[in-house]
Amino acid sequence: MFKCLIILTVHIFLANSTSEIGPDVNYCDFPCGSHMHTICKLKHRCEVSSKCKRFQNSPFSDSEKQKIIQTHNNFRNLIALGEGCKSMEGKWFPPAASMRELVWDGELEFQAQCWANQCVMEHDICRRKYDGQYAGQILAWVRHKSVFSALRAFFDECKNTSLANIDSYGTGKEWGGHFAQMIYWNTTQVGCARVIYEFEDRSSERVMFVCNYAWAGSRVGEPIYIRGSPASRCPAHSKPHMDLKGLCTTNPSKSKVPNICKFAKDKKKCIPYLSMVKSVRRSYWTPDYDVYGQPVNFCDEKYRCWQGIHTICQANHNCRRKPHCLDDSELTQKEKRDILNRHNELRNTVALGKLKQIQGYQLTFPQASNMQELVWDEELEFFAQCLANQGIYKHDNCTIKTDGTPFGQNIASGYGYTIMDFVNAWYAEYENLNQLSSVLEPTEYPYQTGHFTQLVYAESMYIGCAKSRFWSNNKVDTFLVCNYGPAGNKKYQPMYIKGKPCASCQGRCHRIYKGLCKTQPSRSKPPNICKPYDYDCGPILKEPGLKDYYHHKWYARIKKSKKNETQKFVRASAVLKKNSFVLMGFVGCITVTYNFLL
Ligand SMILES: *[C@@H]1O[C@H](CO)[C@@H](O)[C@H](O)[C@H]1NC(C)=O
Ligand SMILES: *[C@@H]1O[C@H](CO)[C@@H](O)[C@H](O)[C@H]1NC(C)=O
Ligand SMILES: *[C@@H]1O[C@H](CO)[C@@H](O)[C@H](O)[C@H]1NC(C)=O
Ligand SMILES: *[C@@H]1O[C@H](CO)[C@@H](O)[C@H](O)[C@H]1NC(C)=O
Repeated sequence: MFKCLIILTVHIFLANSTSEIGPDVNYCDFPCGSHMHTICKLKHRCEVSSKCKRFQNSPFSDSEKQKIIQTHNNFRNLIALGEGCKSMEGKWFPPAASMRELVWDGELEFQAQCWANQCVMEHDICRRKYDGQYAGQILAWVRHKSVFSALRAFFDECKNTSLANIDSYGTGKEWGGHFAQMIYWNTTQVGCARVIYEFEDRSSERVMFVCNYAWAGSRVGEPIYIRGSPASRCPAHSKPHMDLKGLCTTNPSKSKVPNICKFAKDKKKCIPYLSMVKSVRRSYWTPDYDVYGQPVNFCDEKYRCWQGIHTICQANHNCRRKPHCLDDSELTQKEKRDILNRHNELRNTVALGKLKQIQGYQLTFPQASNMQELVWDEELEFFAQCLANQGIYKHDNCTIKTDGTPFGQNIASGYGYTIMDFVNAWYAEYENLNQLSSVLEPTEYPYQTGHFTQLVYAESMYIGCAKSRFWSNNKVDTFLVCNYGPAGNKKYQPMYIKGKPCASCQGRCHRIYKGLCKTQPSRSKPPNICKPYDYDCGPILKEPGLKDYYHHKWYARIKKSKKNETQKFVRASAVLKKNSFVLMGFVGCITVTYNFLL
């Protein structure tokens, strides 16, 4: 209960600190010795500099600000408790007597943004607050929008810092400047900004973040902190923190974003800070983690399989396309709809007892009483896209959903084929079956029909597919991945239950596909793999999900084509059979494999 309260207060103060316009401030009144204040130097204009290339503003969301504060306070608390880090000498940093809690500060954030907008890859010189406090600064270039691994790395400088610096900063052998600022005892406020732009000589790093700290930390010759038992010497107006036992409390910052336009040389062109950030917020893509909920770490033990590690862990939680993948790698809405419709048409054909081998054993598949309609699933689509984006023709090692349940997977790749050729090729495997009992009373599903049995596995209800196109042997291959949930090809479980179509659907028969049970739309969303794992949080799909799935035109089309279903499918698979026979001659042209559930 108490913790909830704390979080609530932090929220409120964050909202206050940046939504109110403060007083008019002339920063030329706040020089640092002989150095002019940064904002005075900029003539009170904080807009994005014309020198910035491909600039995008990316201000921290309130939840990110909270996380930044928490991260700092956790580090500070651990150090203060004497449990934070072992120094260069291999000894724990000793406890601190008056380590202060950090709080967010709107003015520091504003000054950080103002400097970040200049696209200069170095520290600014003078960044005093209008209450007179001097501020320190941490500035970094990172590959991903998540700043937490960078903060961790800065904190880890402690391992390279000698203990002598604690009492007199700069005198020990080695010292980490970032670390010293992060845990400077008398720093109570922090404010950060983040921007994205193209750097001259750093192609992989394009995100810059700037954090300003007041008071400025760690002056040479002065202590980084006072040794003593944790929170035993809290200064006036500060008391031991209830939760973070090593820290002394700090009151919420009162300073507000100042209005500098009154002192701008060209007043008409000066954009007040809040409108600057607000307009950007609306146009900029929101970080995924605000949309997708709790973060998931796919490097966790529970996402490991005997075949190896999870694809998302292998990709360092970055599912963006590998460079050898082409830009047109995403399935179009039409392709997704076609894949889904084709699957349901085929499942319906089987369920109605209309599938008959035209070669080999001439088997006729009996009717199915429990064949589910497949519906599109964005989580399965996300996994498929992440695999496809790796640009290698391979199955996932671990076909496991966020909740830990397995899904099935069909993959296909080739050159000069349509997406539908792949789906048809999977289906055409039904010709390879030599007896019905091996799929209707299976012990283990036969290998040569694994795609087919997954495609029409009655209990699978969800499908999500993705494609990629990438260079392989001097040509561009198309790679299709379809994931199915729940997974099919389960040992000892029949592909479907024989019986009258829809007899086992508990009354939920499909209106159009008379052989299928109706399935409710899937609500599952792509997992949040952004936070706090180091990942560029841009979405990997431009148009995730399947729009206008229940479009009336689409229904009309199915109704029209229903009558000649059987002939059409038999013909289609017959043609494919011929083709795939020919195709096999060209090694590597078309390959299909699938996952068995073990
Ligand atoms: C520690 O300091 C040494 C010497 O300055 C440097 O070579 C090394 O990379 C540093 N290690 C870390 C983890 O910062
Ligand atoms: C610590 O910070 C307070 C303001 O919060 C300031 O008045 C005081 O001088 C600082 N002490 C030192 C030793 O820097
Ligand atoms: C499967 O795991 C191995 C190592 O455990 C890894 O090298 C390989 O890249 C993984 N495959 C995929 C598709 O992620
Ligand atoms: C159905 O197929 C038969 C023979 O293949 C054909 O004669 C007939 O015109 C088709 N009907 C429709 C509605 O397409």
